[in-house]
Amino acid sequence: MARCIEKCNFEKENAGHITIKNGDARKLDFIPNSSIDLICTHPPYANIIKYSEDIENDISRCAIPEYLKEMESVARECFRILKNEKFCVILMGDTRQKGHVIPLGFSVMKIFESTGLKLKEIIIKEQFNCSTTGYWKTNSIKYNFLLLAHEYLFVLKK
Ligand SMILES: C[S@@+](CC[C@H](N)C(=O)[O-])C[C@H]1O[C@@H](n2cnc3c(N)ncnc32)[C@H](O)[C@@H]1O
Repeated sequence: MARCIEKCNFEKENAGHITIKNGDARKLDFIPNSSIDLICTHPPYANIIKYSEDIENDISRCAIPEYLKEMESVARECFRILKNEKFCVILMGDTRQKGHVIPLGFSVMKIFESTGLKLKEIIIKEQFNCSTTGYWKTNSIKYNFLLLAHEYLFVLKK
C-alpha cells in the first residue's frame, strides 16, 4: 500500500523538474548561495571503501585526518547553498582501527555544526547483512570487539 502511494505521488504531473549535475561537493560553484531547500548527503566514510583508484576529487581516497579536512569544505558549501530555516541531512557511520572505535560520525557532525548549522535530530539506522558483515564478524570474534551495527542520520537546520 505504501509503495502504491509513493508511486502515485512520483507520477503526479506537478512532480517537478529534476536536474542531475556531476560535481565536487567541496566546490559547488554552479549552485547560488541560499538556494537549496533540502540537502541529503551520504559522504564516504574516509577511506573505508575506496570508490575509485584515480579520481583526483574522490575524498574516499583520503585517510582520516585529510578526509576530515576535506569534509570542512563540503560542510561550508552545504551551509552556503542551503536556504535559511531549511535542513541538511547527513548519513554517516563510524569505523574501527586496530580494534578501537573511531567515532567518524560525530567528527563529521561537529564539522557541519561548526559552519553554523544547528543539530536538530540524530536518527540511528540499524545496519546488518552488509557485504562486509562476514569479514567484521570473523574479526570481532578473533580480536574480541563488538560489531558496529548502526549508522547515523544527522538532521541539521540552517
Ligand atoms: C557512501 S557513498 C554514497 C553512495 C550513495 N548513497 C549512492 O547510493 O550512490 C559516497 C559517495 O561519495 C562520492 N564522492 C567521493 N568524493 C566526492 C566528492 N569530492 N564530491 C562528491 N562526491 C564524492 C563517492 O564516489 C561515493 O559515490
